[in-house]
Amino acid sequence: MPIPQEVARRRTFAIISHPDAGKTTLTEKLLLFAGAIQIAGAVKGRKSSRHASSDWMDIEKQRGISVASSVMQMEYRDCVINLLDTPGHQDFSEDTYRVLTAVDAALMVIDGANGVEPQTIRLLQVCRARNTPIITFVNKFDREVQEPLNLLSEIEDHLGMDAIPFSWPVGMGRHFGGVFDIRRDRMRVFRAGEERRTENDELIDGINNPDIASRFGTDFDKARDEIDLITGAAPPFDHEAFLGGRQTPVFFGSAINNFGVQEVLDALVDLAPPPGPREALERKVQPDETKFSGVVFKVQANMDPAHRDRVAFVRVSSGVFNRGMRLKVARTGKEIRLNNVVSFLSQRRELVEEAFAGDVIGIPNHGVLHLGDVLTEGEKLQFTGLPFFAPELFQAVEVKDPLRTKQLRTGLTQLGEEGAIQVFRPVAAGGALLLGAIGQLQFEVVAQRLKSEYGVDARMMPSRYNLARWVTAPDSKTLQKFLDSNAANIAYDVVEAPAFLASSPAQLRVVQELYPDVTFHAMREHG
Ligand code: G4P
Repeated sequence: MPIPQEVARRRTFAIISHPDAGKTTLTEKLLLFAGAIQIAGAVKGRKSSRHASSDWMDIEKQRGISVASSVMQMEYRDCVINLLDTPGHQDFSEDTYRVLTAVDAALMVIDGANGVEPQTIRLLQVCRARNTPIITFVNKFDREVQEPLNLLSEIEDHLGMDAIPFSWPVGMGRHFGGVFDIRRDRMRVFRAGEERRTENDELIDGINNPDIASRFGTDFDKARDEIDLITGAAPPFDHEAFLGGRQTPVFFGSAINNFGVQEVLDALVDLAPPPGPREALERKVQPDETKFSGVVFKVQANMDPAHRDRVAFVRVSSGVFNRGMRLKVARTGKEIRLNNVVSFLSQRRELVEEAFAGDVIGIPNHGVLHLGDVLTEGEKLQFTGLPFFAPELFQAVEVKDPLRTKQLRTGLTQLGEEGAIQVFRPVAAGGALLLGAIGQLQFEVVAQRLKSEYGVDARMMPSRYNLARWVTAPDSKTLQKFLDSNAANIAYDVVEAPAFLASSPAQLRVVQELYPDVTFHAMREHG
């Protein structure tokens, strides 16, 4: 198939949620409906991932599991769907955020009882900053959950975009009758599902159909009134507004019962965009160009800490990838030959023969590929937009044996390049290096890897800082003045970008008011 057609049939999205909202369940059911698996329950060791403990063996196990299951590819209705997982739980880390840079849309799963929860909000902020279109699935309507109208306004408040219901629940919990498909004007009657997909759902046409009204009684009357209300009050669905991240289509259902899953899968195909152009410093890269380009958005260390091989996750931006082709790392000019590149077809890791824009390929390597690296057939390209997020947790790090200081620096540099942690060098004399993270687990992984891979026994100590902001100013004099006056709170990151460190939001606010010319950034782009 010619490249433009291959690109047009790709959909690459991330699935985001707060732990326990039902992301794993929905993922399984999406695979089930796409025919990628036959029986749900096969995706991953759910129990072990849910009760993520910080025990190192568990971390290792989970990393193994997550390499295999963090990207899944399936075919549905002639489309190739790439689903990228965003780990929640304790292993929430910067990786989670960066995955969102590799997708063209996001599917947000919300627990109908809990509404929009903190972990989701953090991810949503990144989607919003990038205008990523979001499809919303409100889960668990087979339970007593919040009123759908409340959920809708909560979604609107948190997303800062219009929530446009495509379906509407009739009842909930024990009285859950099904969902009414507003656009097709028909009701899909709820039936508790099993592990397998069933074909023969009952559908009843027409919102004014007396059969529905008599069968579902007051639950249906209420749903009909609500549908009237929202279709009267809400703006109509506008595809452009969705693509620009200003509207989100909302679906209701129960993932565990396979209910509402088909609608979500269809929405991905019908509404979510195919891969679009990507901005590089040099030029805009179109997905259907003939030459290959791709960017490393995640680097994952191998399960076996004795071997330093890593898997670089590359999102294809343009052209065709063929097994065995030679590509250049734009940063170093180094050529690599790609024979054993893996793809992620459902949950099996297999060798990839061909990949197009939107696909994700995994390249095992020994540190040749860094986060943000661009692979091309020779052209020098640097894609913009791989963000580094201001850490929210800090620890000072020192080496127990001063003779291993050099190894500590080497280890931290490499782990920093891999994106496992952010490293800051405080200006203050005698200040130990500071590690910054988004998730607590990042510190534990780094301490363990420093030991096993670099032979460094590192001591992690609490730090008085709780937030960081990269600082810029319109001219270098203003910036220097700020840096000099606040030296005690300034640290430089690995690319020597200065950051202001604060122990509380209040402290940050005070400084922001004192220096109105200085801009404080919660995100820094790679490069
Ligand atoms: P996560 O990946 O977002 O963390 O969530 P996961 O799918 O693991 O689901 C969290 C819990 O919610 C699981 O229950 C799961 O069975 C349940 N769940 C998912 N979808 C639905 C739904 O539509 N309705 C209801 N009632 N429950 C749902 P668990 O008891 O914690 O685990 P398990 O024993 O079922 O595996």
